[in-house]
Amino acid sequence: MSRRTLNVALLAAFLASLALNWAVRPQPWRPNREFIPEMVRTPRFNAYSTNPNFPNGMTLQAPVGGTIPRGFLPVHYAPTPEDALRAGDTLESPLRPDDAQAIGRGSVVFSNFCAPCHGATGKGDGLVAQRGFPAPPSLYADNARKIKDGQIFHILTYGQKNMPSYASQLSREDRWRVIAFVRSLQKQASSVPAGGQP
Ligand code: HEC
Repeated sequence: MSRRTLNVALLAAFLASLALNWAVRPQPWRPNREFIPEMVRTPRFNAYSTNPNFPNGMTLQAPVGGTIPRGFLPVHYAPTPEDALRAGDTLESPLRPDDAQAIGRGSVVFSNFCAPCHGATGKGDGLVAQRGFPAPPSLYADNARKIKDGQIFHILTYGQKNMPSYASQLSREDRWRVIAFVRSLQKQASSVPAGGQP
């Protein structure tokens, strides 16, 4: 290759690089150029939009049969007194009875959701009961002491006679925590000498 051809080639390369520099010069008033933009923004379907990718044409699909959504545990008990007893025999609290943190939270739940009827200390003398709502039995009575944790869970989940269900207000965890709190109330009361106030 002659010197002259080399110089022409170098000049051409230089001009080409100048031209490229000019082509990609910063233009703050324009959005940046994007390379394969579909990689950055994947096309998506909104929850209720139609969708050609599924046979039924919908985006939201029913869960596969027999699967359980994450964080959701079905309760395998019917809302009947028989199943309340069955829950007592087969369902156990996941909490240790001395779990102070759970009992602390259970105490807050009790004041907010149970005390209006059951009274601040569970004697069945809450404000709602004082105003004429059928008074619940004392949580210190033999019956309430003997009911198993699983059965109380069933009562809180489905309600029992005049007591409504608390399933929509209380998470499962909070239901177990308030049960732990009721147990701690009962335990404290039994350590009070006869005749003393719980
Ligand atoms: C609207 C008033 C009301 C509220 C609020 C309420 N209860 Fe009750 N509860 C009752 C009544 C009334 C009964 C008695 C039901 C019956 O006749 O079987 C009862 C029964 C119970 C029993 C069974 C007691 C026994 O000896 O049979 C337990 C345990 C209990 N409630 C716990 C709770 C807890 C824990 C909460 C808070 C999450 C709560 N209750 C909130 C009214 C209420």
